[in-house]
Amino acid sequence: MPPRNREGHREPSRAVFPGSFDPITNGHLDIIGRGLSVFDQVTIAILVNPEKHPLFTVDERVAIIRETFRGEDRVQVDTFSGLLVDYAERVGASVIVRGLRAISDFEFEFQMALMNRRLNPRIETVFMMPAESYSYLSSRLVKEVFQLGGKVRGLVPAVVERRLREKYGSASPQPMPVRRRAGARRA
Ligand code: PNS
Repeated sequence: MPPRNREGHREPSRAVFPGSFDPITNGHLDIIGRGLSVFDQVTIAILVNPEKHPLFTVDERVAIIRETFRGEDRVQVDTFSGLLVDYAERVGASVIVRGLRAISDFEFEFQMALMNRRLNPRIETVFMMPAESYSYLSSRLVKEVFQLGGKVRGLVPAVVERRLREKYGSASPQPMPVRRRAGARRA
């Protein structure tokens, strides 16, 4: 039975869709759309992780996602740090939605889902598959392709393409940063 409030009305169902979203892609949008077909509300929760070095700051990612979902009052954008299950409980979500693109995603997602269940058995993880056309898409590849001068139209919302141009300048090929081994000397 869905939870009811004191007046006997059904509480809106809320799912959390967590991630780094650096940047959000059309694959994420596909999953959010599928989430909205099952849940009343979807909260996009951006992990604040000081150990990562993202391209877009948390504030930039919040602004990008807000712009992407402007006028869609069933989608909220928020940030979190600490345990995801604690955040989900705090915002009244009983479901975590994660996208599964391929078998290669499965092992890590399965581990996370089981760990989250152990931490809080009241929160269920639901996996959703994006359209096949997004099965190869990732935020990492979008950044790499754009930086090397490739086209990302159709893979990300227009606002992301614009923000990528602002970050990197024009989409002309940029040299990839060379990773040096620790201790290696500059030539
Ligand atoms: O977009 P990502 O990087 O695949 O998202 C990963 C995310 C944010 C879902 C995951 O790192 C996470 O939930 N971090 C919060 C910390 C946590 O709860 N860890 C224990 C559960 S495995």
